Amino acid sequence: MAGALPPGLPPDPDGNLPPGITPSPHTPFSAYVHVPYCRVRCGYCDFNTYTSDELRGSRRESFVDVVGREIELAERVMSTAGVRRPLDTVFFGGGTPTLLPASDLVAVRSRLDNAWGIAPDAEVTTEANPDSVDAEYLDALAAGGFTRVSFGVQSVVPHVLATLDRTHDPERVGDVISQARAAGLDVSIDLIYGTPGESLADWRRSLESAVGWGVDHVSAYALIVEEGTALERRIRRGEVPPIDDDLHADMYEMADDAFSAAGLSWYEISNWSRTPQHRSQHNLAYWRNHDWWGFGPGAHSHVAGARWWNVKHPAEYERLLGSGLSPAQGYEVPTPAERELERLMLGLRVSDGVAAGDADAAEVAALVTAGLLNDEAARSGQLVLTRAGRLRADEVVRRLAREG
Ligand SMILES: C[S@@+](CC[C@H](N)C(=O)[O-])C[C@H]1O[C@@H](n2cnc3c(N)ncnc32)[C@H](O)[C@@H]1O
Ligand code: SF4
Repeated sequence: MAGALPPGLPPDPDGNLPPGITPSPHTPFSAYVHVPYCRVRCGYCDFNTYTSDELRGSRRESFVDVVGREIELAERVMSTAGVRRPLDTVFFGGGTPTLLPASDLVAVRSRLDNAWGIAPDAEVTTEANPDSVDAEYLDALAAGGFTRVSFGVQSVVPHVLATLDRTHDPERVGDVISQARAAGLDVSIDLIYGTPGESLADWRRSLESAVGWGVDHVSAYALIVEEGTALERRIRRGEVPPIDDDLHADMYEMADDAFSAAGLSWYEISNWSRTPQHRSQHNLAYWRNHDWWGFGPGAHSHVAGARWWNVKHPAEYERLLGSGLSPAQGYEVPTPAERELERLMLGLRVSDGVAAGDADAAEVAALVTAGLLNDEAARSGQLVLTRAGRLRADEVVRRLAREG
């Protein structure tokens, strides 16, 4: 359970879009479904997720019907606003979506399909923990219209997995990846680097496994020590060593080298793919500021510049939808200056970069000289991070925002 959500403005209880927000029927449209359940909480994680004894009476078995109500609400709101286009991408995240039976995930996908249609070439992904699926489960997903699965692997080294409180057996990961491929699903994996106690040699082992499995896509994240997590408390008490930023940078470069050598190209700071077609179309929709509706407890939505977020607890989410009300808790409409900052922040993350727009030419030149922005791209008006720039992306954005 993450920290408090930003307060925002009070949304319409019936779920209508904020005043003045008119979506374009031509903007690509995606759906995110947040499945807020986990068997145990990993000590580093502050996502909006609940173990069985934290559900306060709401039941996993009701998930399909309750989310189904939000889908009905969203269909009404979007069709009133003139949007009837099929979904371009669908993503089930969590939490652990695969704690639900495959038939539940397929049922939610079908409800989305009934509401809007799903484009024939749409990417339909679910996150999965390697220990909560088997061949039968993966076959059912593929038969039910899923195209892609994203496994939370994190590491293959037992002591690293233990520090992360991960419960899966690293030996099994290769098997479930093969089963997913046999089912016809594209496979992505998530890795985490920089776990306290993880050496460069440990990280190399995880990279070698990832490359050996021949996956289509990898996300590799530097471990963030989130406030209020068990990991943060353990570091504060001195039970595990703190994060070493220099080691993080070395690990990032090691990952980029290993993936490039294996034919996986970087296309976003933390993401590499085998071909441009294997890039996560859903995440690209976020980075390109397309429209998406986030379903489920605590899910965030973005339509035509407005953002809103749902109440976090599944019981409260269920109560509101059960009373015919919108589960949205707050909304905001960023100012033009905030949108420009967001355009820079999101656009700089991807390998295509972002148009320089109003960025100060002297600052761009200084960032090129510092080796953080690509010289050739900058000369044609595009801001593209170098590898050193990828490691210091926040600083690049801060400097451009100050000067822009
Ligand atoms: C929220 S999880 C959901 C997927 C699934 N429950 C799992 O853990 O495999 C999505 C991904 O976020 C990443 N993640 C979560 N907390 C993180 C943290 N504190 N630092 C870095 N990455 C994190 C992990 O790689 C994880 O696979
Ligand atoms: S399984 Fe995934 S979502 Fe659940 S607590 Fe662990 S990292 Fe977070």
